[in-house]
Amino acid sequence: DKANYRHFMAKEIHEQPEVVGHTLARYVDMASERVALPVKLPFDFNDVQRITITACGTASYAGYVAKYWFERFARVPVEVDVASEFRYREAPLRKGDLAVFISQSGETADTLAALRYAKEQGAHTVAVVNVPTSTIAREAETVLQTLAGPEIGVASTKAFTCQLMVLAALAVAAGKARGELSDADEAKLVQGLVEIPRLIAAALVAEPQIEKLARDIAKSRDVLYLGRGTSFPIALEGALKLKEISYIHAEGYAAGELKHGPIALIDETMPVVVIAPYDRVFEKTVSNMQEVAARGGNIILVTDAKGAEEATVDSLVTIVLPDMGSAFTPIVYAIPVQLLAYHTAVVMGTDVDQPRNLAKSVTVE
Ligand code: M6R
Repeated sequence: DKANYRHFMAKEIHEQPEVVGHTLARYVDMASERVALPVKLPFDFNDVQRITITACGTASYAGYVAKYWFERFARVPVEVDVASEFRYREAPLRKGDLAVFISQSGETADTLAALRYAKEQGAHTVAVVNVPTSTIAREAETVLQTLAGPEIGVASTKAFTCQLMVLAALAVAAGKARGELSDADEAKLVQGLVEIPRLIAAALVAEPQIEKLARDIAKSRDVLYLGRGTSFPIALEGALKLKEISYIHAEGYAAGELKHGPIALIDETMPVVVIAPYDRVFEKTVSNMQEVAARGGNIILVTDAKGAEEATVDSLVTIVLPDMGSAFTPIVYAIPVQLLAYHTAVVMGTDVDQPRNLAKSVTVE
């Protein structure tokens, strides 16, 4: 049931502090500030030379975020691919390498086929799934469950942030196992993760501002989303969410790719949503933002207090999220892009929970 919400999607967005918190509690030991996976992994991260992550849609964007984390914390190369491509290109996998599959439903046909392929190749398989009785959960060697609870809205929201939480814990575990992270590093990262549910709740406070903004977005024909580093997949996710429920054309780009093409689209009619927490690539993103501003583009900057202070362009709107010192900003920055898509769809009057042409679980390829 929708509780007091108008749509399942709204309810599921608002459930995130709680369900991400449950997922966190399953994957870390808060008292000792250590990652504590609920299952013993049947392989040693030191033997893994490459990680391949495969998924579809929003779940694939969780995989893109995880790539940055695994490479940074564990210094292990990661390849991310959508399952429909991975399954047919017959990617060479080394026996004993790790293949990770991410799926809310655990029934996505292409992801399942990719899992079967990886098993045939002798890879270790880990499935990050929300439905523990699903086919993917049954067939994977190791299951890491997300505790999002049933997700009814076709647009994935809470499953995504819970996937990120599990993947963050796994990446820290990998870094620890490979000796790239010290006990102190691990404790610091776990402290960052423990903060997330509270930070998500704080991000939800921006909802009235986003709701107002959605009235302008609803008038646009196209919307561009930009981000760098771990904010790049959040730009992709923001664009996907907007298209799927409001039917407004949107694209997500790595901010640095702007001048390689999409900048030609910029004019005063196209909103540009810039996802830019004050992190190690913030300055770079700001210079891309200046390029947009110089061409009359309307900027919606999603940042934190420090970013809002440092950003040297007049943006149309600044959405200020809580400060966070950790590498886990995407788990929190997912919230405003979900809210923006949701409220835009509500303004457009579309069927938010059952958008046209889409199925919750894509069991045929
Ligand atoms: O159940 P899955 O996580 O395997 O589904 C994957 C995609 O079909 C799914 O994330 C889709 O992109 C969503 N509708 C996005 O909101």
